[in-house]
Amino acid sequence: MSEQTLSNLMQENRRFEPPADLAANANVKEEAYARADADREAFWAAAAERLDWGRKWDQVLDWTNPPFAKWFVGGTLNASVNCVDRHVEAGNGDKVAIHWVGEPDDDARDITYAQLKDEVSRAANALTELGVRKGDRVAIYMPMIPEVVVAMLACARLGAPHTVVFGGFSADALASRITDCEAHVVITADGGYRRGAASALKPAVDEAVAKTGDLVRSVLVVRRTGQDVDWDDSRDVWWHDAVDSASAEHEPEMHDSEHPLYVMYTSGTTGKPKGILHTTGGYLTGTSYTHWSVFDLKDDDVYWCTADVGWVTGHSYMAYGPLANGATQVMYEGTPEKGRWWKIVQDYKVSIFYTAPTAIRTFMKQGREIPDGYDMSSLRLLGSVGEPINPEAYVWYREVIGGDRCPVVDTWWQTETGQIMISPLPGVTAGKPGSAMKALPGIAADVVDDDAKSVGNGNGGYLVLKEPWPAMLRTLWGDDQRFKDTYWSRWPGLYFAGDGAKLDEDGDIWLLGRVDDVMNVSGHRLSTTEIESALVSHPKVAEAAVVGAADETTGQAVCAFVILRDSAGDGGEDIVEELRRHVAKEIGAIAKPRQIMVVPELPKTRSGKIMRRLLKDVAEHREVGDVTTLADSTVMDLIKGKEGSAS
Ligand code: WT7
Repeated sequence: MSEQTLSNLMQENRRFEPPADLAANANVKEEAYARADADREAFWAAAAERLDWGRKWDQVLDWTNPPFAKWFVGGTLNASVNCVDRHVEAGNGDKVAIHWVGEPDDDARDITYAQLKDEVSRAANALTELGVRKGDRVAIYMPMIPEVVVAMLACARLGAPHTVVFGGFSADALASRITDCEAHVVITADGGYRRGAASALKPAVDEAVAKTGDLVRSVLVVRRTGQDVDWDDSRDVWWHDAVDSASAEHEPEMHDSEHPLYVMYTSGTTGKPKGILHTTGGYLTGTSYTHWSVFDLKDDDVYWCTADVGWVTGHSYMAYGPLANGATQVMYEGTPEKGRWWKIVQDYKVSIFYTAPTAIRTFMKQGREIPDGYDMSSLRLLGSVGEPINPEAYVWYREVIGGDRCPVVDTWWQTETGQIMISPLPGVTAGKPGSAMKALPGIAADVVDDDAKSVGNGNGGYLVLKEPWPAMLRTLWGDDQRFKDTYWSRWPGLYFAGDGAKLDEDGDIWLLGRVDDVMNVSGHRLSTTEIESALVSHPKVAEAAVVGAADETTGQAVCAFVILRDSAGDGGEDIVEELRRHVAKEIGAIAKPRQIMVVPELPKTRSGKIMRRLLKDVAEHREVGDVTTLADSTVMDLIKGKEGSAS
């Protein structure tokens, strides 16, 4: 974010007080901050009481071997029982858990908690039949259909950690995740619906499985679109054969509080994605408590989080948090299209809505006439996540979608944190457009300088977390050293989030984006290095440098600079398209560069480090900054000379 934008932000002085009735009846009041400060562990222990435990814990937190935390030590529980069975036992079996809305019109179904319990039990029995045992990893590559939630909960029930891979990722990306966590079983579908058409998933699984040797034993396939699929009888099993015929009785085992729940891969600053490990008791405590407090969840709310289940938001705030709370929620298969979302809000009387700034900015561009055509008076609270929300988008969201009556909670967190960390409390905080405000009760955040000193109000620096929290990642799958190096080595005892932030005069936090080589495109994390390696793996490319450039809709966009090999000549007319397709094939369509420039040289320091800052200037059409540390100061002229020919 430029200094200009930053100072504009700091001049933002609009405030939105909580609505009086919401404040009066809020789940969490002001006192929670002081209570948590007085005794953080007692605060989280009280939050853990929200769950059903098989055996209660002996110790709330074991932090004797940092950065390896253990929460609710000695306790046992089952995540799937907490998300499903206990609501049925409490007499809420007929309550709708999921209003599922398919992409094709009129393709919808409601699933009650009782039905969900039967389905999860059947799936757990079917997975057992396929040889899945406690501790085994299961990969899930599915569209947004109810079966994906059933599959996750069935794995959790068995204590088999799942790794959900976003359906937009390539076969290669799927293969590397299957290999990294050694999954023997993959759950998928023939395809899903995207933008009005059936889009295949099974072929990518076939390709991925072929790349992983004989690792994968079984592929369980949901029939969603009915499209033709290749079939390997020795390995492939239809969901409707295996699951529908299985018993709806399944006796759950209580797992240790620290038993692995899932692994979620996310991009880091190197080429290799990191397997973020979340465990059971602390994760479920952190997600259910924050879902209840930040969204002020009430019994009759209809909640809708628009995230795909392939990302952490889909795990914490579509699957585990809301279901642990017994909420009724909407799950939608498709992507945002014109009025479709608002029709869903109207039809299902959605009261709490959680989405990303990139979607809000897209709707802003389309104009308010579209949402104005729907009755959205059921809404009472709006949430935002994934990237900084600019004040204009915040105010538009509040006014146009929220009818100027709904508070907006801008929630900062990460795949690693598992749970929301910094956010307004809707019944307490007077929100400032563009600020995530302050750390939630029980969370200790600060902004520090290079020497780990608090910057104090009015200053900027790095966002850090100072105390362990229940849903924190426990390690990186199979790589304790990288876990320490990445998050805990910069300053002793502090978790380094990778984000820049500023404290305003009131001490409220303004997030300023990543300070490492990680880009944020439409709220999704992409690594510059990973895309560079994908480009360099193309036979025509000698070298590549990638930067995230500011983009009005997606926040940042991928911009690549490549040097071709001599043997490739000028690369041919379609070189740019060819390289964009190559990146999509290697990583997935979301990683496709917006722009690729073929250049004769890259700007490097005398020690050979690429100066991405200068490339960013070019990509953002700015005057190129200080070039004095370049080994060859004429390089930027050569690159600027190419700018006209960029696509
Ligand atoms: C990164 C984490 C959290 C689930 C979705 C993304 C950025 C996230 C905000 C926010 C400013 C935000 C940060 C963070 N981010 N939420 N409310 N304001 N920035 O999860 O892929 O793990 O990415 O997203 O840069 O580090 P993720």
